[in-house]
Amino acid sequence: MTTWKTEYESKKTSADEAVKLIKSGDKVVFTHAGSEPSALVDAMVRNADNYRDVTISNMVSLGKGEYSRPEYKDRFEINSWFVSSCFRQAIADGYGDFTPVFFHEVPNYIRRGFFKIDVCLAMVSAPDEHGYCSLGVACDYSVQAIKSAPVVIAQINDQMPVVYGDTFIHISEFDAVVEASEPIPEMKIPVIGETELAIGKHCASLVEDGSTLQLGIGAIPDAVLASLKDKKNLGIHSEMISDGVVDLVEAGVINNSQKKLNPGKCIVTFLMGTKKLYDFANRNPGVEMRTVDYVNHPMVIAQNNNMVCINSALAVDFMGQIVSDSIGTQQFSGVGGQVDFMRGAAMSLDNKGKGIIAMPSVARKKDGSMISKITPFIEHGAAVTTSRQDADYVVTEYGIAKLKGKTLKQRARNLINIAHPRFRDELAAEFERRFLTTF
Ligand code: COA
Repeated sequence: MTTWKTEYESKKTSADEAVKLIKSGDKVVFTHAGSEPSALVDAMVRNADNYRDVTISNMVSLGKGEYSRPEYKDRFEINSWFVSSCFRQAIADGYGDFTPVFFHEVPNYIRRGFFKIDVCLAMVSAPDEHGYCSLGVACDYSVQAIKSAPVVIAQINDQMPVVYGDTFIHISEFDAVVEASEPIPEMKIPVIGETELAIGKHCASLVEDGSTLQLGIGAIPDAVLASLKDKKNLGIHSEMISDGVVDLVEAGVINNSQKKLNPGKCIVTFLMGTKKLYDFANRNPGVEMRTVDYVNHPMVIAQNNNMVCINSALAVDFMGQIVSDSIGTQQFSGVGGQVDFMRGAAMSLDNKGKGIIAMPSVARKKDGSMISKITPFIEHGAAVTTSRQDADYVVTEYGIAKLKGKTLKQRARNLINIAHPRFRDELAAEFERRFLTTF
């Protein structure tokens, strides 16, 4: 047996044994999104009685989030860096918390100790013949969490794809390994309806052949991809990608041939979709994962040619303040990479970058009432995700509003013109009250 194999055997243990390495008061971080190690997380929850005041941090979670339930509030406290649906209640009810952060800064926060980590729970592929495991579907902050944590417990999952790039971790970096094979968590692919298709068409009109794309989280970005089938020579430099990218690569629309930075490669920091996406990325030299302090760094994004960023929002006010992660005082999601990409595109060295916020014109509130997502004022308690200075294009199913370089009145007019027709009159009346001039 080679040395790494001996080391691997000596570190191999059960999940219930491994989680004894977590101590009360520890700060525990999981590797991201689809690489949340559910066998280890389940064992931690099963052994909850052994802990007090363990802080759990991660960004997007595709897991069950049981540790954030009220019955565990003396055991675990969630401090999320991006609020997934499973954490919303804990944060709304006051026993969980949220830290706002630009995604590209997370590794640096870990290095500088702003985000302290005592234990990292990771999920990786089976080791290769040299003892290296791939982080597979998530590279982002996960690599730095493993490097910085004094204790690293790895779930070895032979279903984790091997994705090339900065994803490889040698088994010597793990303190304990637990073999547990299970499918990689999948994200439900949003249904694309007429509204999404109309939004997609407007966005497509802003995408030139040869553009480099970033696609954000939510229903809209994949709908935009469905509208890009007639484009040529597109490239990907994106925080995440989902299944829609696979279709366009297979159709020859995305070929990364015009990219000046990392030509020939889809550059991403995590993958979130279904098995179709994970199989596509597995040992695919056309997909390269880089850490988020590279992929999302505005100065790196700026080096891409014809950079077009497409993200979504919950609400936009007349001034172009973009609210994407809160609904009033409720923390709904996170900042993620939205501002990283809006700013990176704005700094584009070829002066061609575009930052698009694409969203349906209306939303249904919890009480069933319909509201306009274009509003005179942001809701009381809401946080601005992208500032009015950073806002560039806003797209709804009714058209495109250009905001950059526009005055307050021009912004408001452009936005009202793409609001849902049902709300335009009341928005126009609000415009007249506010600006003391006719709409
Ligand atoms: N007021 C009240 N409720 C609203 C609302 C508003 N202004 N806007 C949307 N909602 C409701 C919707 O009706 C929907 O309710 P439901 O879940 O009961 O159907 C829910 O909020 C989610 O809205 P939806 O538009 O479907 O969300 P999405 O899945 O498309 O995601 C964001 C949109 C903005 C939440 C998402 O893009 C995000 O988290 N962005 C911030 C981070 C980011 O952009 N990162 C980019 C790189 S990954």
